[in-house]
Amino acid sequence: MNKDLLSCADLTHDDFVKLMELSAKIKRERGTPQAAKPLAGKSIGLIFAKASTRTRVSFEIGVQELGGYPIYLESGKTQMGRGETIPDTAKVLERYLHGIVIRTFAQADVEGLAANSKYPVINALTDDYHPCQVLTDMFTMLEYKGKLEGLKMAYLGDGASNMANSLMLVCQLAGVDLAIGAPEEYRPSQKIMDRNLGPGKCSWTTDPYEAVKDADFIYTDVWVSMGFEEEAKERIRVLKPYQLDMAKLKAAKPDAKVMHCLPAHRGDEITDEVMDCDQSIVFDEAENRLHVQKAIMTMLMGN
Ligand code: CP
Ligand code: NVA
Repeated sequence: MNKDLLSCADLTHDDFVKLMELSAKIKRERGTPQAAKPLAGKSIGLIFAKASTRTRVSFEIGVQELGGYPIYLESGKTQMGRGETIPDTAKVLERYLHGIVIRTFAQADVEGLAANSKYPVINALTDDYHPCQVLTDMFTMLEYKGKLEGLKMAYLGDGASNMANSLMLVCQLAGVDLAIGAPEEYRPSQKIMDRNLGPGKCSWTTDPYEAVKDADFIYTDVWVSMGFEEEAKERIRVLKPYQLDMAKLKAAKPDAKVMHCLPAHRGDEITDEVMDCDQSIVFDEAENRLHVQKAIMTMLMGN
């Protein structure tokens, strides 16, 4: 297994299968005497340059439940916010910490931190990727369906976002077929589509109804990701036809499940009716962040 988790391209198929199994075990054993403490005696830095509810809380609790000590660092309040370089920061932090979880803007900064530190670095979201989220999503789908290979996921909305990029990689790895419904202006990266990390196939259509046809899961995400606020008006205008509403949910398989990484902008990318319907599993995804991230930390940072 690679030292770091910077995107799902860091995982082999075997790593992925092991991660799914370990996540299930950690979830089952949470709060019991069997629960392992592989981070005992270790301190993990959590560096955040962007807002977060789920990721911050689940990592902080997760480190503690694994026996470690989490240190939350708001990057603007560190010397990084005053221009200390990423390599210098990495070389200092490795003298104190045993691992870093980082949420920031540029993927290159996360890569720089990883390249200059002997300890594992976990990407907790950049403009390009959100691996912890999509690995959790695959685990959640596995809980509902008992298998992943051969399933179809449809993703509606910003096809050029960190979530779309990450879903393409993880679906390839997991053998899930991913159909992205997105407009030309926010089309998915051809390069990522063609990575072929595994048997899952990725496709793109501008027709949201074609994307959701026969889908087992429909996924959506905010139209205005963190850092793109200045483009909000134009994004909302162009992405409007891709709103996940009842008509599109009904065009998928009758038992299709609704997924969203959250936070949701209700009334934009998803209607209240869809978000709150029986087919919605968005809060299961949120819970599973804790279990899957504990498994990721156990594999990368555990004794
Ligand atoms: N899904 C997710 O990463 O949520 P937060 O931004 O609240 O961490
Ligand atoms: N695409 C969203 C995901 C939030 C978890 C963003 O980057 O803001």
